[in-house]
Amino acid sequence: MKVLIVGDVYSKLGRASFERNVKQLKEKGKIDIIIVNGENTSHGRGLNEKHYQWYLEQGVTCITLGNHAFENRGIFNFIDNVDNVVRPYNFPENLPGKGYATFEHNSLTVTVMQMVGKVFMNEEYSCPFVKTQELLDKVKSDIYICDFHAEATSEKIAYAHCFDGRIQVVYGTHTHVQTNDARILENGTAFITDVGMTGALDGVIGVKKETIINRFLHGTQEKFSPEDAGKTQFNAIILEINENSKKPANIDIINIIE
Ligand SMILES: [Fe+2]
Ligand SMILES: [Fe+2]
Repeated sequence: MKVLIVGDVYSKLGRASFERNVKQLKEKGKIDIIIVNGENTSHGRGLNEKHYQWYLEQGVTCITLGNHAFENRGIFNFIDNVDNVVRPYNFPENLPGKGYATFEHNSLTVTVMQMVGKVFMNEEYSCPFVKTQELLDKVKSDIYICDFHAEATSEKIAYAHCFDGRIQVVYGTHTHVQTNDARILENGTAFITDVGMTGALDGVIGVKKETIINRFLHGTQEKFSPEDAGKTQFNAIILEINENSKKPANIDIINIIE
């Protein structure tokens, strides 16, 4: 089973890069499951219904979100009516949406889940480690894939080791910077600290660079606007999972600059 996982798609340039590169990857060879982090899809903040539909047209299996999950209020129109949009499982339980989704592929069940980290995050969330154990006990699946949406590299690495052998794929998102540490851990979990971002290459993690430079230099509080010109980066990972052993055989990094 081939699984493509794309890092945070950021606004207009991100969507264009996603469309172009996913099409090309599909032409090169069959991809069974496409998972994308969509928390920055609509103008950098959240995911509206139009862009959700657009993801379906691109053949996306599942969309994960993150700390920006509910910043576009359009999400409330559909999140509880669809079965392939996943917000962090360790959000407060009364919030809309679900923290996991299960799909079938060749009679195997594949569960995609998301947790948000606690270190250096603005909001206070439940412990992702405890909530993951709870989810693994509750939802039985042949294959688990977790988007661990967190700031600190240490938290992501600790999490991957903690669930090594129990979750087949653990990948980080949220920093928008791809790390060069993709590997298979001792007990078989495929892991990368951060998949990276799909969007403008020369902004600051998706935002116009001038806004962020001014913020650091002069303490200005300008509204953030997505960088909408220049080169793009397409950041993703591609996994091969052995359907007999249910273990990842390979994890590859994709970083395409155009
Ligand atoms: Fe993001
Ligand atoms: Fe995030």
